[in-house]
Amino acid sequence: MPPDTVPDPRAVGELYDTIDNKGVLHFGWWDSLDDEKPLEQAADRLTDVVTEKLRLAPGASLLDVGCGLGVPAVRMAARAGVGILGITVSGEQVRRAGELAAAAGLGGRVRFELVDATAMPFADGSFDAAFALESLIHMDRRAALREIARVIRPGGRVVLTDLYDRTAGSAGRHSIIHGLAEFWLLSPLIGRDDYGGLAADAGLEVVEVLDVSENVLWKTLRQLSDRMAAGDRSVVPDAAVDGLDDTGAAALAGERDLGCLLVTLRRP
Ligand SMILES: C[S@@+](CC[C@H](N)C(=O)[O-])C[C@H]1O[C@@H](n2cnc3c(N)ncnc32)[C@H](O)[C@@H]1O
Repeated sequence: MPPDTVPDPRAVGELYDTIDNKGVLHFGWWDSLDDEKPLEQAADRLTDVVTEKLRLAPGASLLDVGCGLGVPAVRMAARAGVGILGITVSGEQVRRAGELAAAAGLGGRVRFELVDATAMPFADGSFDAAFALESLIHMDRRAALREIARVIRPGGRVVLTDLYDRTAGSAGRHSIIHGLAEFWLLSPLIGRDDYGGLAADAGLEVVEVLDVSENVLWKTLRQLSDRMAAGDRSVVPDAAVDGLDDTGAAALAGERDLGCLLVTLRRP
């Protein structure tokens, strides 16, 4: 069954502590459907698209909600000249992301902390903006968005990606939704049009909701499928694909039950 409860953040942290993830933890952005750049480059391109949508001034201070291994934060800080605090529920990610920032010579302005985004210890208005790449999928979205709205300053933007259920809850037993939800400890999925209500509840305005299923999610899944078929497992955690047989891996390419949104919000 699709998830109907929010996972315990400690369990999510343990998952990310123990899986052998390889750096690319978010989807790619392909500018056109003919573009076939590798996922690693497309993942960086998605970070750059998010950076553009945040409209950052050099020196701005940002919150990266669910920072993973810190790859997006390090890239954004280096290219936009901003300071970033990344938060995650995985202690192992805090350690590895910190090493990445130090190796890039950015340890002074890119930091990582073990913090639950649904109960943050930061003062109101601490950050100029925030971003959350494929991380709200694990959280109580309402609690996280309220907290994000609280800790950014008035006028600050929030840019995020999220997954949505294109089947309106009727996904069949073989749908990718079930496997992903179970392995990745997903929160209940949202619908295509839910961000208006979620934003309003958090006191945020919707600037833009883009449906990027085709050039983000589906192209990512197709590339994962093609690479697994070629024996290349360099971009997915082993544990996430152990048990996925060839048919399951091939089916990823044609998966259409899940969609993906790129959302820009603003604190009035
Ligand atoms: C799929 S990874 C995405 C990582 C990163 N944003 C990226 O795009 O590379 C999800 C991230 O969300 C974090 N996360 C999940 N629940 C969280 C919570 N309640 N508070 C803070 N971080 C959380 C996980 O620890 C993990 O770092």
